[in-house]
Amino acid sequence: MAHPIVDIHTHVYPQSYLDMLRARTTVPYVHDPSSGAASRLIILSSDDNPSIPIDQRGRPVDSSYSDIGVKLAFMQLHGITTSVISLANPWLDFLPPKEAQNWAQRINDDLERICAGVNRPADPDGTRPLHEKTTLFAFGALPLSAPSSGIVAAEIARLKTLSHMRGVIMGTSGLGKGLDDSALDPIWAALQKNDTVLFLHPHYGLPDAAFGGPEATDRYGHVLPLALGFPLETTIAVTRMFLSGVFDRFHQLKVLLAHSGGTLPFLAGRIESCIAHERRFIANGGDTQGPKRSVWDVLKTNIYLDAVVYGEAGLKAAIHASGGPDRLLFGTDHPFFPPLNGKENEEWLSVRTNYTSIEAAFPENKDSMIAVLGGNAVRILNLK
Ligand code: URA
Ligand code: ZN
Repeated sequence: MAHPIVDIHTHVYPQSYLDMLRARTTVPYVHDPSSGAASRLIILSSDDNPSIPIDQRGRPVDSSYSDIGVKLAFMQLHGITTSVISLANPWLDFLPPKEAQNWAQRINDDLERICAGVNRPADPDGTRPLHEKTTLFAFGALPLSAPSSGIVAAEIARLKTLSHMRGVIMGTSGLGKGLDDSALDPIWAALQKNDTVLFLHPHYGLPDAAFGGPEATDRYGHVLPLALGFPLETTIAVTRMFLSGVFDRFHQLKVLLAHSGGTLPFLAGRIESCIAHERRFIANGGDTQGPKRSVWDVLKTNIYLDAVVYGEAGLKAAIHASGGPDRLLFGTDHPFFPPLNGKENEEWLSVRTNYTSIEAAFPENKDSMIAVLGGNAVRILNLK
C-alpha cells in the first residue's frame, strides 16, 4: 500500500463559528460587504485598521474556510490521505466566560460530526463517496475563558470520549497571562492525565510597533506579522512554559508546536546559554528556581514539531533539535496561503514548497521522508 500522507496542520471554521463572528463588530469578526463581494475575515488586531475601508480589511473568506467538501478536494489534489482538522485562530479565546463552555462543546461536537460523516463506510447502494480514501480526525478547542480551570479540564476529559479527537489546539494566551501562569497547572495536569497532545498555535503575533506601526501593515500587508510575528510568538510562549518549569512538573506533557516551533530549534542553544548565565537562578547562586531540565531534553521528549516551515534550513534545524526525523509531522495550514491567481484547483505553491523542502531534507533516506509525511502522525496520534 502507498504510504499515508497526513496533514496535521489544517484548519476549519465550522459554519456555527462563522455565524457567531458575523454577529460581532469588533475583532474577531466577519464583515459582509453590501456590494455582495466576498465576506471579510478580520481576526488579527492589525487587520482592523481604520484607515482601510472596512470592505477591504482582513482577508476574503470563502467556502474553503468552512466547507468540508472543499477541504476534501484540496486533500485529493495534494495526495493527502488523512487530515487532523482544527478550529482556526483565535479559537474561543475572546468569548465571555459564561459562553465558553457551551461554545467549546458545540464546536467540538461539530468537528466530531464532520469527521464521522467523512469516515463512514461507502454507501450501501454502492455509490462511492468522493472521499472514499480520505479520513479525518480533529484537535478539539478549549473553553479557556471559562470561569474555572475545572471546566477546561472537564472538556479535555470529554474530548477523550469522542472517537475522532486526537488532541487539542490552543493559542499562546492561556488563561490571559501567558503559558508560564501557574493557574494553568490543572490544565497541564488534565492534558497529561488524559495523554492528550496539545497543538500550540500562534495568533497574537508581536505588537505592531515591533514592525513599524500601522504604516508597515499598510505597506507590507500580512508579511511581517505572519512570517515573523507568528513564529516569535510561539517561540516566546513555549520558552516561558519551559522557564517556569512546566516541563519539570509535567514530564509527560506532549506539545506539538506550529510552524516547526517558530524559531525554537534555531534558538535553543542561545536559550540554554542565557539560562546558564542568569544569576537569579538557583543553579547559578540566585534564589529563583529556573528550569531543571535542558531545552534539548524537552525538545527530544515533550515536543513535536510540524513541518510547516517552507524551507530546508528550517526543517534541518527542526530535525537536528528534536534528535532526528521521528518527531516531525507534515502539515499545510490550509485554507490559509491559497494561490493568489484564483487557481485553487491546481497544486498550491505553499504545499508544493513544503513537499519540496521535505524531499530535499532527506535526499538519501526515503524512510524518514515517508515518516515525516505521515508515518509519524499515524504513530504519535494513533490514526488507525
Ligand atoms: N493566518 C492565520 O490567521 N492563521 C493561520 O493559521 C495561518 C495564517
Ligand atoms: Zn495554522
